[in-house]
Amino acid sequence: MRNLLWSQVTPKEMFLNRRSVIAGAAALGAGFAGAPALAKIAAKQSAFSTSAKPNSLEDITNYNNFYEFGWDKSDPRKHAGKLSVDPWSIEIGGMVDRPGSYPLDDILKPVTLEERIYRFRCVEAWAMVIPWIGFELRALLDRVGVQPSAKYVAFETLYRPEEMPGQRAGGIDWPYREGLRLDEAMNPLTILATGLYGEEMPKQNGAPIRLVVPWKYGFKSIKSIVKITLTDKEPATTWKSLQPREYGFYANVNPEVDHPRWSQATERKIGAGLFAPREPTLKFNGYEEQVAALYSGMDLAKNY
Ligand code: MTE
Repeated sequence: MRNLLWSQVTPKEMFLNRRSVIAGAAALGAGFAGAPALAKIAAKQSAFSTSAKPNSLEDITNYNNFYEFGWDKSDPRKHAGKLSVDPWSIEIGGMVDRPGSYPLDDILKPVTLEERIYRFRCVEAWAMVIPWIGFELRALLDRVGVQPSAKYVAFETLYRPEEMPGQRAGGIDWPYREGLRLDEAMNPLTILATGLYGEEMPKQNGAPIRLVVPWKYGFKSIKSIVKITLTDKEPATTWKSLQPREYGFYANVNPEVDHPRWSQATERKIGAGLFAPREPTLKFNGYEEQVAALYSGMDLAKNY
């Protein structure tokens, strides 16, 4: 979103809607010669992208965590198809100048020209590289006007048990909730993603819009967001509420700090084959240069 202000009006002849940008990216992926301007825009890769080879679409859409659709890694692919994502809007409130219910098309309108590919590594106990299409969260926050008293951003996923079988079962106090400190939310690595591999977001990956915070464990990257609230108190988050000894608010990828029940020093690469050796996990998932300063002076073993 470099230097693009939300207040700037996109010239009409340049205006592209979300679907055509995505179509442009898909066309590029297929080596299609049409719509060169579109393709160029859509193909713009973030300077923060890794050069690592992305996982296959097959891996990315068949091995998921989305507990609203069940506990198994294959449940989201089986059950997320029932979720209806159109129309969609996000309720933005709390300490902002312009609270309201923002329709998704309205949220995306000013960002389409800058929508770009972020090839980010995603780490839990396993790792994948996913070519997201997204835009910086800070652009949206700037647009709604964050008030000086705000210190945190809280996010919530859709609650719709009729379409989300996991929500009809117990286990989690729905809806799924996540949060970031405001400076983390404003970091240019923090994106709202609306697609991957040049296509609209698959439902099992968090359609139509989800967070991606590449230097944190995957559970921070909340899917299918319907609510964003600016607050001055650290918000309650799903995994910290469930298991506070095991999951903290920060959840920064850190090979030096073990999960109480397992080491977090190495990761298994999805798609590398059953016998591939585990690989060392990088601090902040390799984004130390961009984000370490956010935590200077903090004890990361305590603030896990
Ligand atoms: N968001 C919601 N709403 N519900 C979830 O269960 N799972 C999280 C995160 N976002 C989850 C969620 C976890 S544990 C991970 S590892 C990532 O989504 C997985 O994202 P992916 O399936 O796109 O790889």
